[in-house]
Amino acid sequence: MCIFPVLVFLGVFLCAPHQCLECPSGCECFAVTRTVKCVSKALLSVPPNIPGYARTVVITGNNIHKIGPDSFTELENVTNIILSNNRITEMASHTFSALVNLRFLDLSGNQLALIHPEALRIPGSPLQELNLSRSLHNFSALTDLTTALRWGGLGGLLRLDLSGNHLALLPPGMFSHLPNLQQLFLANNSLVAVYSGTFSGMNHLEVLDLTRNAFGTFRADALQELEKLGNVRILLGNNPYACTCEIRDFVSWLNKTKAVVDVEAVRCSSPSRLTDTQLRGLSVQAIGCVVPVLAEVADLSLQTSYVFLGLVLGFVAMVFLFVLYLNRKGMKKWINEMRDACRDVLEGYHYRYEIDSDPRLGNVSADSSRAQRHLALALSQQLPSDTCIVQVPTDLQIKQVTTSPPVNL
Ligand SMILES: *[C@@H]1O[C@H](CO)[C@@H](O)[C@H](O)[C@H]1NC(C)=O
Ligand SMILES: *[C@@H]1O[C@H](CO)[C@@H](O)[C@H](O)[C@H]1NC(C)=O
Ligand SMILES: *[C@@H]1O[C@H](CO)[C@@H](O)[C@H](O)[C@H]1NC(C)=O
Ligand SMILES: *[C@@H]1O[C@H](CO)[C@@H](O)[C@H](O)[C@H]1NC(C)=O
Ligand SMILES: *[C@@H]1O[C@H](CO)[C@@H](O)[C@H](O)[C@H]1NC(C)=O
Repeated sequence: MCIFPVLVFLGVFLCAPHQCLECPSGCECFAVTRTVKCVSKALLSVPPNIPGYARTVVITGNNIHKIGPDSFTELENVTNIILSNNRITEMASHTFSALVNLRFLDLSGNQLALIHPEALRIPGSPLQELNLSRSLHNFSALTDLTTALRWGGLGGLLRLDLSGNHLALLPPGMFSHLPNLQQLFLANNSLVAVYSGTFSGMNHLEVLDLTRNAFGTFRADALQELEKLGNVRILLGNNPYACTCEIRDFVSWLNKTKAVVDVEAVRCSSPSRLTDTQLRGLSVQAIGCVVPVLAEVADLSLQTSYVFLGLVLGFVAMVFLFVLYLNRKGMKKWINEMRDACRDVLEGYHYRYEIDSDPRLGNVSADSSRAQRHLALALSQQLPSDTCIVQVPTDLQIKQVTTSPPVNL
């Protein structure tokens, strides 16, 4: 008598319209919230026959190595898929093509090594948020992903999380095919520099997270690239900033920018005397760019005077050389004259020596000691007037010397 209503009640309870539909083994299906969960069930693949009413599918903590287009069929109502921590290594072409209403895709905590260029392509570009945090296996995967972002038709993507991927560099223009991206998370990587072109093509970025990377500074071209992003909130904290003179541009940019929202966390990591000092407001002296101002001025004036002295000396040397050049004929003449003079002087001495030892003179002197005295007198008289010593002796004088003794005899 009472069994029928109980059966009816049970029937209604157990076979509520959605509840009655099958739920894949190892999964829990919640018709009311339109959610299917397959959590930590050591699944080796995405279970088939997920109920068509599902809007949110959570498959995490399993052992699914590969996903492809056959993993997700007839799931037109799914808007959110969470596939984190499944050890997924391969993503085939058009994996999510059937999920025409997919807005949120979480692939974090996987080991993607192979990403097909069109893996992320979905007709109508419905995807708005993609979480690839801690999901790229190595650098090849980054290259694959760059291609997939390019070929994925992700014009509707608003949020991209690439944090914790050991990224050391970002291929130029990596995000240029995500024109509507508003939030880009690159925290907890190994980035050391932003180059011009790194963020090209993003005109609607609102949040850029670069915290916990390996930036030692941001150079002028990097700051320009950040400036190009326009009205964006940038997070730059927890990087190993080296507060040496090279960080000057970055500090003066921090001094005036309003874009950096976590400026409190932007602190020096080296040198030790500045460890943990906030970068904004650091003076050029503190980062060791210049010696104190007075010394600087003194130093500068000293330098200027050295430079001036150098210029003057250079000028004098040039004038000297120029004069020498202009006067080159005179110089030549002068040198020749000098040479002749000296040769003549030497010849003069030589001659006198010869006269002294001339056997004829010897004979003469033997003939007449008076004549010899006369000659000696003539020579001694001649000597002072002999300009040879101070001036160029003329041929005449030499003739005089050579001819005078006989004449005087
Ligand atoms: C998606 O949801 C609509 C409305 O709830 C439903 O009519 C349709 O059958 C669902 N799609 C699938 C594949 O179950
Ligand atoms: C992406 O996933 C990670 C880990 O699952 C999570 O911590 C992070 O908040 C997610 N990113 C966004 C933007 O929600
Ligand atoms: C990345 O990992 C894959 C799979 O382990 C490997 O085939 C590839 O050579 C690796 N690439 C690099 C650059 O290490
Ligand atoms: C940063 O990334 C490493 C490895 O990717 C991870 O082990 C660590 O938990 C992450 N740290 C934070 C704060 O997310
Ligand atoms: C930053 O601003 C402080 C004052 O707020 C100033 O003393 C310092 O010189 C500035 N630093 C640079 C590098 O412009």
